[in-house]
Amino acid sequence: MTSYSYDYDADFPPSAREFKKAIAEVDAILFITPEYNRSIPGGLKNAIDWASRPYGQNSFTHKPSAVIGTSPGAIGTAVAQQHLRGLLSFCNSPQMNAPEAYIQFKEGLITEDGKVSNESTETFLKNYMEEFHQFIARVRTVLPPDA
Ligand SMILES: Cc1cc2nc3c(=O)[nH]c(=O)nc-3n(C[C@H](O)[C@H](O)[C@H](O)COP(=O)(O)O)c2cc1C
Repeated sequence: MTSYSYDYDADFPPSAREFKKAIAEVDAILFITPEYNRSIPGGLKNAIDWASRPYGQNSFTHKPSAVIGTSPGAIGTAVAQQHLRGLLSFCNSPQMNAPEAYIQFKEGLITEDGKVSNESTETFLKNYMEEFHQFIARVRTVLPPDA
């Protein structure tokens, strides 16, 4: 998608409207990121920029989120995730602080049909999702969708 600019604020393109609508319709967002030069890929940054605008219509306000990622590097997207957390803080998204998940990607970790082949990683990820589920419920208790 083309880079966000203020010029679009008066008339957002249909794809950007649909993106913001899709965010509005979900209870929470799980960001799954690779790491590009120790940060998030430019495409993800651009998507966040679009969704955060026009000014006053930030799609992330009060929208619970969590961050996770995998890459072949030994620290498995840790630095990219820290950058993303900073963006989401600014965008006023309540974030799950812990557990964190920095997954080093190794060939075969995820099978063709989407299963996690390493048992301890699978258990870890199941726990991560359970914690995220509980986090969303806690946030929604104090911040209902229309708050
Ligand atoms: C421009 C570029 C920069 C990258 N920088 C990092 C990096 O800083 N840390 C890392 O662990 N992997 C890095 N990688 C490897 C990516 O994390 C890895 O290729 C990832 O699986 C890419 O996912 P994608 O193909 O879905 O974008 C980089 C890859 C590219 C193309």
